Amino acid sequence: MSRAVYPGSFDPPTYGHLDIIERASRSFEALKVVVFENVQKDPMFTVEERVSLLKDACAHLPNVEVESSYGLLVDYACANDINIVVKGLRAVSDFDFEFKMALMNKKLAPEIETVFMITSLKYLYLSSSLVKEVAYYGGCIQELVPPQVAKKVFARVQAEKNSKTSKGV
Ligand code: PNS
Repeated sequence: MSRAVYPGSFDPPTYGHLDIIERASRSFEALKVVVFENVQKDPMFTVEERVSLLKDACAHLPNVEVESSYGLLVDYACANDINIVVKGLRAVSDFDFEFKMALMNKKLAPEIETVFMITSLKYLYLSSSLVKEVAYYGGCIQELVPPQVAKKVFARVQAEKNSKTSKGV
């Protein structure tokens, strides 16, 4: 049975992520979507919140399971008997970092292959950080993330703004 893992920060999940998930779910018999802590990022949502948002968004995909993990991706893959890592690639700017991660993962676990899926053209510009920035300044994110995600992002942005106002920032 072909099993793959699609790892990410998903802070928050976007239609770009869901596009990759749907396409990967058609390419592999079982797909694990796994929320990892990215030590280089300061997240808006907890890991549990991101898992819950992804579970809602993937509920229509019977061969997709969503969970979280801590530690190395290759350790997760080995422990779950998975030898394919799916990553999404948007532009050349993604390539350098993704290339380094794929090679490092190969060094750590040579039996694991990284498979890159090129993003659909309509999501080429889309990233979680831009979604948060657009929402922060009151822009429309309706076409960028599922409705339940948009609701959560706006609530979190509003809470951040209220906290800044109360501190006089
Ligand atoms: O959505 P992101 O932030 O680009 O995802 C990055 C992620 C979570 C896939 C990456 O940071 C990762 O694999 N984290 C797990 C820890 C790990 O294995 N680090 C070494 C990567 S070579």
